[in-house]
Amino acid sequence: MPTMVAKRSADRYGVVGHPVGHSRSPLIHKLFAEQTEQNLTYELIDAEPEHFETAVRGFMAAGGKGLNVTVPHKEAAFRLADDLAPEAQEARAVNTLAFVAGAIRGHNTDGIGLVRDVQTNQKQAIDGRRVLILGAGGAARGIVGPLLAARPAELVIANRTVERATELAAQFAERGPVAGIGFAELEGLPPFDLVFNATSAGLRGEVPPFTPGVIGPETFCYDLVYSVEDTPFVAWARQHGARRAVQGWGMLVEQAAESFFIWRGVRPDTRPILRQLEAAAPRAAPFIAS
Ligand code: ATR
Repeated sequence: MPTMVAKRSADRYGVVGHPVGHSRSPLIHKLFAEQTEQNLTYELIDAEPEHFETAVRGFMAAGGKGLNVTVPHKEAAFRLADDLAPEAQEARAVNTLAFVAGAIRGHNTDGIGLVRDVQTNQKQAIDGRRVLILGAGGAARGIVGPLLAARPAELVIANRTVERATELAAQFAERGPVAGIGFAELEGLPPFDLVFNATSAGLRGEVPPFTPGVIGPETFCYDLVYSVEDTPFVAWARQHGARRAVQGWGMLVEQAAESFFIWRGVRPDTRPILRQLEAAAPRAAPFIAS
């Protein structure tokens, strides 16, 4: 009689958010798992803020190996983690939890994902360039450290509420040439090489009153938000003559790849996945520089 070999059951992962129904993460991680032949499942977990901790601990107790964390739980995940990777500590937010030997380890792969998208998929150098971040909330906080690590000549953080920009810049002052200012102070500055929109105004269909002077014919613009159509910021940037303006699809896929690497020790090839998502959004600008 042949010996029965028990098939190892799939490792469980997922994303927890609220609302989370439209998340692309299950599709992205399923494609990563197929590509790298990893035996795992990836679930959608909708948890209201008061149920976040119970949802995470319940998933872990049931044998789950890790979770992605999205809006509005990234700060709660930061507080919940037993220990934190340096970039999560710096961002004061966690988008990836890994359950290791009964402990909850918090990571933040958003900033690394953004930098990898800009440098690899968009083929834009950051080293030696003048960089502007619009916004100084949670999304901005997550990208300042990784952007400074890419050695820009200058990093300016401009925000509607100027104090948030100066405080954020002060936190990173020892890491590189960073300054915080209000939108009004952008007037009269020469155009930047790279401009990142990290405000949440686009979610309400708005573009804040940034001076178009920040954009010149050589400027590369990037919206951290993504949509199947051009976002208001991407449309605004193109209208004011930016060389290229893209949305954060690449950041989404690259942060997922970094999470996958933390969990599985295997780095997926993101390009075919980006091409697949691009094909499903024909009304948006190309996701990868040709
Ligand atoms: P997130 O985690 O998405 O960054 P957040 O921490 O609430 O959310 O920060 C939202 C950011 O978008 C802030 O920089 C906010 O500016 P303020 O600090 O002045 O509030 C910015 N923002 C949101 N709506 C805006 C608008 N209509 N005009 C300008 N800035 C806006």
